[in-house]
Amino acid sequence: MIPDENLTKAVISLQVETSCKIVEKTCPNPHAVRLTLEVGDMVRTSYRGPGQFVHIKCGEGRLLRRPISVCVCSEDEPSDLLSVVFEIRGAGTAWLAARREGESLDVLGLLGNGFTMSPEGRYLLVGGGIGVPPMYGCAFCGGQCDAILGFRDASHALLTEDFEEICTTVAIATEDGSLGKKGFVTGPAEALLTKNRYDGVLCCGPRPMLKAVSALAARYGVPCQVSLEERMACGVGACLGCAVSMADGSMKHVCKDGPIFNASEVDWNG
Ligand SMILES: Cc1cc2nc3c(=O)[nH]c(=O)nc-3n(C[C@H](O)[C@H](O)[C@H](O)COP(=O)(O)OP(=O)(O)OC[C@H]3O[C@@H](n4cnc5c(N)ncnc54)[C@H](O)[C@@H]3O)c2cc1C
Ligand code: FES
Repeated sequence: MIPDENLTKAVISLQVETSCKIVEKTCPNPHAVRLTLEVGDMVRTSYRGPGQFVHIKCGEGRLLRRPISVCVCSEDEPSDLLSVVFEIRGAGTAWLAARREGESLDVLGLLGNGFTMSPEGRYLLVGGGIGVPPMYGCAFCGGQCDAILGFRDASHALLTEDFEEICTTVAIATEDGSLGKKGFVTGPAEALLTKNRYDGVLCCGPRPMLKAVSALAARYGVPCQVSLEERMACGVGACLGCAVSMADGSMKHVCKDGPIFNASEVDWNG
């Protein structure tokens, strides 16, 4: 259910809505755009952990904002910095991809919870497709991280060299075998789970991938957190646009209670 326009505006006005200047625009591959934004004090005031998202207004005519995960962010002077990486899916992301350095975006954030990580912990990060960018933020927060990055093919690969700079091991899997190992992320994930002891598996990507990785982590007795993706309207818990069912029969809002959930909480058949 989508709230009426007034309710959406009222709720949004309670949140921090910031005009953010695009200071850098790059294309990490032919399908994706990376924007680095000056976000005022957004990181200082609302950072809770890697895996949070921002809700971006994509053109005057579109009331509903688009949720995009934070890739990395930092406190800075005079303005905090934040980068997002996205693929063009429809009119909203096409509008966003056409913005230029120096233009400003209307951004609501930081929203949602983040992954829970300990600075001394050892983590296995698993990202699929456009689920890879938020895992990069995670790589800075654990004591030691290994990463498995899954893509459709080599032309969709993202941030692989960035992960290689900071992770102990990086394994790449593509569906067609054009880069790294042919197949899904679960093969390399099982190999690493057999070899190493982890404090957690952290995962972001398509739901079938989240479900498969959650089952694998459970088999190896490692706690698993997943980032769920649902269509969103308000982004702040005021509608039921993003409700998902939990294993205990309750419903939760991905935007407000998530997007990060313990894998054991999620109703994977719902
Ligand atoms: C928490 C969260 C984090 C995300 N992070 C990223 C990211 O880092 N990079 C990235 O490329 N994409 C990300 N997405 C998906 C991104 O929000 C959609 O691709 C985008 O909203 C599509 O908008 P559009 O106007 O281009 O497409 P359209 O299909 O025209 O959108 C129409 C409507 O559907 C909604 N919608 C469509 N697809 C999705 C989707 N997959 N998830 C949620 N809402 C959707 C839009 O918000 C809009 O309201 C994220 C989604 C969520 C929920
Ligand atoms: S999008 Fe409205 S409650 Fe989550």
